[in-house]
This record gives sequence, C-alpha cells and structure tokens, in this order.
Amino acid sequence: MDRLETIAEVRQYVRAERIARRTVAFVPTMGALHDGHGSCVAAARELGGVVIVSIFVNPAQFEPREDLSKYPRPLEKDLALCGAWGVDAVFVPDAAEMYRVDQDVWVEADRLSKLLCGRTRPGHFRGVATVVLKLLNIVQPDTAVFGQKDAQQAVVIREMVEQLDVAVRLVLSPTVRENDGLAMSSRNAYLALDERARAPWIYRSLVRGKELVSKGERDPSRVAGEIRRQMEAHGIAEVEYVELVDARDLSTPRRVEGKVLIAAAARVGTTRLIDNVVLDVREDGTVEETMLF
Ligand code: PAJ
Repeated sequence: MDRLETIAEVRQYVRAERIARRTVAFVPTMGALHDGHGSCVAAARELGGVVIVSIFVNPAQFEPREDLSKYPRPLEKDLALCGAWGVDAVFVPDAAEMYRVDQDVWVEADRLSKLLCGRTRPGHFRGVATVVLKLLNIVQPDTAVFGQKDAQQAVVIREMVEQLDVAVRLVLSPTVRENDGLAMSSRNAYLALDERARAPWIYRSLVRGKELVSKGERDPSRVAGEIRRQMEAHGIAEVEYVELVDARDLSTPRRVEGKVLIAAAARVGTTRLIDNVVLDVREDGTVEETMLF
C-alpha cells in the first residue's frame, strides 16, 4: 500500500494508474476507522480499479467549541486496517497541505447547510463541502463512496457534485451497525460504559418510528414525537432533533409519503451522535427501508 502525503504525490500516483488504464475509486475519511468505513472501502473495491482512502481530520468542519483536538487519530492502526482491507493508496495530508492560512474561498450549500445538523453546527457543511471538493479535485476519481450514516452530508455532497458539475460518480454505502443497533462511529469511543448501554436507543427509537409508519401513521410530527419520547424514556435525555424530511431535498413534508429520511441527533453524555433510517413509503401502503440514492 502506498502512503501519499502531498497533493503532488497523489496527482503523480493517479496519473500513473490512468496510464495503466485503471479506474480510481475514492473513500474520504477522517480516520479512526471502523467497519462503517470498511464497508465504504468494500463498495469501492467492488468497482474493480484502484482504491484510494484519504485520512484527514478536517479542521474546517468542526465548530469552534467542538472536539477537534480530542478527535481520535490512531494513524498506525488506521494504516494497518487499510492494508487489511486491500486499499491501494492512502492520502494522509497535514492541515498545511490542505489549507492556506488565508483560505478565503469556501463551498456553501445555502439552504441545505442550515437544516437538521446545520442548526447547531452552522459552519459544519461548509467545511465538509469545501474539503470534499478539494479532495475530489486532488484525486479526480471516477467514483467516490460515502456512507448513508451521514445522510445530510451525502445530500449536500450530491447537490454540490450536481450543481457544480463535478465529474465524479457517487456511490452510497448502507449504515453499518454494532450488534445492538448502534451505528458505528468514531465518536462511539468517547462513550462511558453506561452511555454505551443507552446509545442503541437512538436506533431502536428510529425503528419504533418506522413501525408506526408501517402501521399507517402518516403525520410526520406524530412519528417524530413518538421517536423522541422513546429516546427520552430510555435515558437519551438530550435529544437535539428528530425530524422526518423529504429524502431528496430535506424539505418538511406535510404527510409521510415517498422517500422519507427520519434523522435524529442526540447527546449521550457529552458525545453527540447522529443516526437515521430512510423509508420508501409507497402508495399501496407498504413501507421499506431504502437508500437515499
Ligand atoms: P468520517 O466520519 O470518517 O466518515 C467517512 C465516511 O464513512 C463517510 O462517508 C461516512 O458516511 C462513512 N461512515 C461513517 N460511519 C459509517 C457507518 N457506520 N456505516 C457506513 N458508513 C459510515 O464523514 C466524514 O468522515 C467527513 O465528513 C468527510 C466526508 C471525510 C469530510 O471530511
């Protein structure tokens, strides 16, 4: 596995792969890798060409008061995992390689970045969109793989790619969960034992919401209210939001129908966790979990 640290090295590596007529699949990450990242890598490998993973804890997507300095950075372990997953090259830039100190140009999704997580993390999606566009311009992959776990992020990136004419195909990988349902996240490492025991109730409550919809409930606020009650009843006291939105544009629907994203964010102790389920609510009344795109 090649370890690349500069933009110039990545460009040189990719140029050689292209000359050898291999396609390039790309999986951007912030490291602290787990099986959720692993499934994105597996989806990238299925495409048959070379797989490049980036590991970069992007300062621009952390709010000033957030956990940038304590974000886990187990680099050697991450590199070993990438090797075991069959990654061909890892791009591990430092912040100086990725940003100018006087960085002045940013990518902003005006409407999408203010919804859901954007309400408490107003600069977050600007940081995500900017670093992802930079990474896509550096690597210039044929395909980039993202996880459905970060549903709003996936929608912001999809819209960025579409509205800014970025020449890349996006692939979405399903959310990978622990046996008890908790969505895998690098932030799960922050949870104390009792918090870890409560955390699966975020997903269990979302599943309860799905069951309500399956039984015919079509009022979004009733479904969201029941999910929130379930969480609170099981020790998830600080629910930031539970929302049902249109999976295409994250707008608020009047009725639960079509492709619906049920998204939630909650603090468990001091750790902020997010999760979601995406439902396909058909006209004949059937309800199935599905992919955002
Ligand atoms: P990070 O949180 O490291 O996640 C990297 C990729 O792995 C994202 O596409 C994310 O959705 C996916 N992922 C994380 N947990 C997952 C899970 N349990 N199941 C499936 N996929 C999962 O997301 C970021 O980094 C950053 O915002 C980034 C896009 C790299 C920009 O800095």
